[in-house]
Amino acid sequence: MNMTDIIAKKRDGGTLSEAEISFFITGVTNGSIPDYQSSALLMAIYLKKMKPRETTYLTRCMMESGDQINLAKIPGTKVDKHSTGGVGDKTTLVLTPLVAACGVPVAKMTGKGLGHTGGTMDKLEAFAGIRTALNQAEFIKQVKKLGLAVSGQSGNLVPADQHLYALRDVTSTVDNLSLISASIMSKKLASGADAIVLDVKVGNGGFNPTVAAARKLAKTMIRIGEQMDRKTVAVISRMDQPLGRAVGNSLEVIEAIETLKGNGPKDLVDLSIELGVQMLLLSGKFSNKTAAKKVLKQQLKSGAALKMFKKFIKAQGGDIAGIKDYERFPGAKYTLEVMAPKSGWINGLTARTIGLGSMKLGAGRQKKTDPIDLGAGIYLHKKIGEKVKTGERLATLYTNRKKTLQEVEDLITPAWSIGTRAVKAKPVVVEVL
Ligand code: URA
Repeated sequence: MNMTDIIAKKRDGGTLSEAEISFFITGVTNGSIPDYQSSALLMAIYLKKMKPRETTYLTRCMMESGDQINLAKIPGTKVDKHSTGGVGDKTTLVLTPLVAACGVPVAKMTGKGLGHTGGTMDKLEAFAGIRTALNQAEFIKQVKKLGLAVSGQSGNLVPADQHLYALRDVTSTVDNLSLISASIMSKKLASGADAIVLDVKVGNGGFNPTVAAARKLAKTMIRIGEQMDRKTVAVISRMDQPLGRAVGNSLEVIEAIETLKGNGPKDLVDLSIELGVQMLLLSGKFSNKTAAKKVLKQQLKSGAALKMFKKFIKAQGGDIAGIKDYERFPGAKYTLEVMAPKSGWINGLTARTIGLGSMKLGAGRQKKTDPIDLGAGIYLHKKIGEKVKTGERLATLYTNRKKTLQEVEDLITPAWSIGTRAVKAKPVVVEVL
């Protein structure tokens, strides 16, 4: 078997066998296949697509390319949650302590932000001293003791994805149904959860521009999960405007804490509760959606979820004083208010533009290796459905890079579309599959 024949087969629209996909992934992992051949095959897959069975083989081979975490020592059904990525998506910070407070163990592997989207690992770094790289033994011990641990990928989890994702990023081959599904599901499967809740975003802030595209991605990932004997559910949620009002790491952490204190924005609360319901149902501890929702709301209202959050930050070495005193989080030296150019009702707010603006202020990274500024970001005073007057604040920009303020103001001001008629924001949850 050789790569030239495999590339030619896919280029001509053929179906790759399990052995051919295994040859490719093994070669990517051990470095025997040069990047130019891997890139050529990725482009052939992008253009000619993969059949469902090829996508499943690809996922399995990628999952087996490195370590696989065994969570069997933790009693109960372990349920993981994964978001396809968005702007202002701090759901993990709210949802994981909330579900853990309901008595369901949460062992969450998480990632860093890239491009206009954020990542939970970066947000957690806002807590001084926190350890986000637990080794497997520490991770399991903490979940057993506390019921919750959140860690960056430890050890050698799906090395094939690390390499392929970097190549996809620079060869314009990220946006492909099979490649996205295999990338996400291989990592979820290798992370050891028994059941998976997927938060599939729809709208310009994520990968899927339409509900039809989001549904297709959701169904592909559900099929892969089920073929690998993991109960898998997908929630399709709106990402046409940012989630909540805060975008950027410290700002999002503060909004998540406020949500755990009972003062959260409606879209973030609604999405956290819906994802929580699905996690509780998959855990097997609840069989009824209404009962699961009631318990989640109780745990949020009673402060039990906030208490769990504190314990988890402390267990991972983070300074919990920040939960009371937000001044402890990394801040920004410079701010700028973005004003409304006219009066009316906000009928659109492009999440992607806000994400790009936040990245330029320093909150995100263009390349995986770029440093980030935890204090940078954007706070949105106006979102879809709200009324605004000329000269009123649309947003506040936060940065430590003074020079970026003007550029970002110019970039993001058109993100708000202001109309003459009142509109209502659509519910954040579109459907559950
Ligand atoms: N997230 C991933 O982990 N992989 C993709 O390919 C896309 C989003």
